Amino acid sequence: MLFPMHIAQHRLPFFFLLCSLLLAGYAAAQEQSVRPGINRHFVDPDWQRWVNTFERPGREVYDKRHAIVEASGLRPGMAVADIGAGTGLFTRLFAPRIEPGGTVYAVDISRTFVENILRTASEQGLANVKGIVNTPEDVGLPADSIDLAFITDTYHHFEYPEQTMASIHRALRDDGRVIIIDFRRDPRTSSRWVMGHVRTNKAQTVEEMKAAGFRLVADRPFMRTNYFLEFVKAE
Ligand SMILES: C[S@@+](CC[C@H](N)C(=O)[O-])C[C@H]1O[C@@H](n2cnc3c(N)ncnc32)[C@H](O)[C@@H]1O
Repeated sequence: MLFPMHIAQHRLPFFFLLCSLLLAGYAAAQEQSVRPGINRHFVDPDWQRWVNTFERPGREVYDKRHAIVEASGLRPGMAVADIGAGTGLFTRLFAPRIEPGGTVYAVDISRTFVENILRTASEQGLANVKGIVNTPEDVGLPADSIDLAFITDTYHHFEYPEQTMASIHRALRDDGRVIIIDFRRDPRTSSRWVMGHVRTNKAQTVEEMKAAGFRLVADRPFMRTNYFLEFVKAE
């Protein structure tokens, strides 16, 4: 009995040092928020206020919503994730386009948004909409479960883009696609609001997507203040 006690006494400091190093390594490996606070307005959002904001003429992605749907290559039977679905503008437009047999997952970190999307979808008779309240790090979709991840005006809201895109990579089927629509960010032409609010320009978004294991396959220039990019999984 003396021998193990003797060993334990000598090894205890080493054990604590090892634990501290492992914990420090784990903490360093976790991605830090790239934009703390950017989603504070969506913690307890006023639903009607955001409907009025996201679904108003003059917002380019609202004005071009039908062209966006056309460009998204939807087919019956597809599983589509509207990541950062907000008020469900695109969820509601996608749902009938993937019938029969398709499903739209309205994914948002805001429970209020997801609950109201489900309510409005049900009021409109859209039976193929499912809701997911996800975490800021993970979209919460099972592996190999979706054909399209659609991310509009939301990539710059990802606080943990590496972890979030890794979770999308896992959820996407091998022949699946990712569409990112986001604001053009150019100091010569963009508003002060865009320059302050939006983290990446188009080239930086493409670089981050490459690092996340995706390959750019299309850049559709039909909008003035937003870009439309389409990616597939890299080989
Ligand atoms: C500017 S809104 C865009 C809403 C909608 N896509 C549209 O274009 O009308 C951004 C949305 O992304 C959501 N969001 C932010 N980070 C997210 C994350 N990591 N995963 C899912 N949703 C997120 C917010 O709650 C908010 O609803």
